[in-house]
Amino acid sequence: MSVGAHPTPQPGTEEYQPVFVGKALEQLGEILTRYPTRQAALLPALWLVQQARGWISDRNMAEVAEVLGLTPAYVKGVVTFYTMYHQHPVGRHFVQVCTTSPCNICGAEAVVKAFLDATGAKELGATSPDGKWTVIEVECLGACGFATPVLINDDFIESVTPDKVSDLVRKYK
Ligand code: FES
Repeated sequence: MSVGAHPTPQPGTEEYQPVFVGKALEQLGEILTRYPTRQAALLPALWLVQQARGWISDRNMAEVAEVLGLTPAYVKGVVTFYTMYHQHPVGRHFVQVCTTSPCNICGAEAVVKAFLDATGAKELGATSPDGKWTVIEVECLGACGFATPVLINDDFIESVTPDKVSDLVRKYK
């Protein structure tokens, strides 16, 4: 092999490309100036990773732990607590439907089913074959008087009923 040539990596053995280089490192530095400790910047640091990679792998968590001086287990505990952090690749549009009791009584399950059908995702947590949609159920979104509330990416939409779902999905195509 000539000097400088790179062998094709085997699946699962690809060299890890750090997130916190260049612009992302600058952004992290700026974020850190706004927090009293490095640990306090954990949530925005994880956002930077998700913006860069689309989801947060175990290796990403280890990198965040390293740059913030935390343990990987601590970072994983935070990532797994919040549904907005993706632990696997998801569709371009991430749909979160509240199915906690007050919304459930008002028909949230039918809203979930309508999203699974209209997007082609078919199953909760799965991604549609076109890679555009992932639908999950979440706990109370804080809009119990406006069942059923839905988050599509960063858009908060209240009073969603099954008959409104097709139009919503079309809007995001
Ligand atoms: S129970 Fe659905 S928003 Fe609170």
